[in-house]
Amino acid sequence: MTSPSFEYLLFETDENGIATITINRPDKLNALNAGVLGELKTAAGRVESDQDIRAVILTGAGEKAFVAGADIKELNKLNREEGEKLSAHGQAVFASFENCTKPVIAVVNGYALGGGAELAMACHVRIATENAVFGLPEVSLGLIPGYGGTQRLPALVGRSKAMELILTGGQLKADAALKAGLVSDVVPAGNGVAKAKELASKMLKNGPVALGKAIQAINAAPGYNGFAKEAQLFGELCETEDFREGTTAFLEKRKADFKGR
Ligand code: COA
Repeated sequence: MTSPSFEYLLFETDENGIATITINRPDKLNALNAGVLGELKTAAGRVESDQDIRAVILTGAGEKAFVAGADIKELNKLNREEGEKLSAHGQAVFASFENCTKPVIAVVNGYALGGGAELAMACHVRIATENAVFGLPEVSLGLIPGYGGTQRLPALVGRSKAMELILTGGQLKADAALKAGLVSDVVPAGNGVAKAKELASKMLKNGPVALGKAIQAINAAPGYNGFAKEAQLFGELCETEDFREGTTAFLEKRKADFKGR
């Protein structure tokens, strides 16, 4: 069964009720523009309301990227108010996957940078392919992670590793991500969706109501409460010269020259 109603997503449901949502903007490494974000929100709503869907797999189109982050071209123009609003919006979209009462498995099949890593972290389980690369490079753009990364990364890998990753803007390859506890499995490229289906099938042998309640209970564990702060600080950074320089430098394919203002 294929849904034709999305521009940026492929949405397919198999005979076992496992929906596969593929972010389909491979020429821009599946970067999250406003259209992708809006469609992800719609897709999450559809998953929750469709009784025939029992689990979800989220992945990216192409062989290179899961999602290479928020669309830097769109970010570059933001002012403070718009930045804070975008951050809160992205957080809400990702929360709709995290709070989904059906299991959501991310298949990270390449770059998962910035918003891509944040989207994967909002999923209930992450499976990486061997070519996966995780990172939150926002500081290299004069920004901070704004779609929940400052909250979910420490919860997944601990504060020290999260500080290191966010403050360096560095990258973790699949095996290092496994070691850090960021992903639960690494499989050969091309095998991610099959592995995720295998895992989803094991989950779906269990009571669906219990699965939903287990997700709710795990999500209720204390962990993060700084989402509003993250959005506020993201907005504040959108007014800095460093942010304008960092995002412009990326678009002009040059190194940023930060002045600390
Ligand atoms: N936003 C907008 N466009 C993006 C993008 C993003 N986050 N990531 C990649 N793209 C675009 C590139 O601009 C390029 O477009 P073009 O062909 O029109 O020039 C295309 O996707 C391919 O990317 P390119 O950079 O040429 O591929 P690469 O293999 O040389 O590098 C990456 C891959 C992932 C290392 C590099 O694209 C990158 O650093 N992306 C940004 C990552 C990031 O900072 N994300 C956080 C954003 S908050």
